[in-house]
Amino acid sequence: MKKLFLVLAIAALTGAAQAGQNVEGLARTCNNCHGVGGVSAGSAMPSIGGLPRDYLKRVMKQWKYDERSAITMSRIVKGFSDDEIDALADHFAKLPWVPVPQAAAAEMLAKGKETVAANCTDCHGLNGGDPDVDSPKINGQSPKYMELEMQKYRSADFKMPHRKMKKAVQETPPTDASAAARYFGAQK
Ligand code: HEC
Ligand code: HEC
Repeated sequence: MKKLFLVLAIAALTGAAQAGQNVEGLARTCNNCHGVGGVSAGSAMPSIGGLPRDYLKRVMKQWKYDERSAITMSRIVKGFSDDEIDALADHFAKLPWVPVPQAAAAEMLAKGKETVAANCTDCHGLNGGDPDVDSPKINGQSPKYMELEMQKYRSADFKMPHRKMKKAVQETPPTDASAAARYFGAQK
């Protein structure tokens, strides 16, 4: 029994070590969509470099085990072992968070700021860059991505395990949520 335990422990360690070695190569495959260093090139693709380690692990495992909906990412993460997912999360969490602020009309930003101050600051902070432990940074995150993501959270069919964030969206009218996305996306 002891021997089996040892063999399993060594196998687990070797798996983690191998995942660690391969991580640079795996991470390069992410750049095609998420940008070099996980910094969005300004499209509807989100930045992922510098997001919290636990958040990265959580969402990737939720996709892998079908606890969370995604069109593209579910397919991608199903090809990875849990060790590889952990190694990828470590890799991207160590990179700096680089906001890519995108300009928006002053009226839109004012409306977004008002919505954020009323409904989002408790968890995300006023500019999205000083969140609580549970939440990702969203200052200078792709506004188009954030807008689309929140539209999905409104749907009952969309699996999104974080109840509080889902509820926050459902309690915010769509135009206000879009303005909030533009506001967060414009922050440095
Ligand atoms: C073919 C394009 C593509 C590739 C390659 C890709 N992603 Fe994604 N990624 C997306 C899309 C699109 C989303 C938005 C969710 C969805 O619809 O799947 C996303 C979302 C994410 C998110 C959530 C970001 C957030 O702000 O919550 C993480 C984390 C992520 N991807 C990690 C990775 C990692 C790590 C890799 C490389 C192993 C990778 N992605 C490769 C397209 C891609
Ligand atoms: C109770 C805390 C809480 C409140 C209030 C809240 N959020 Fe969130 N938000 C979170 C957490 C936690 C996540 C990550 C959840 C997950 O995907 O697992 C998140 C995720 C997001 C995302 C997706 C980020 C990404 O990178 O994929 C956006 C956009 C967002 N929130 C915007 C808002 C806006 C706009 C409001 C106000 C209308 C708001 N949030 C209110 C906690 C909150």
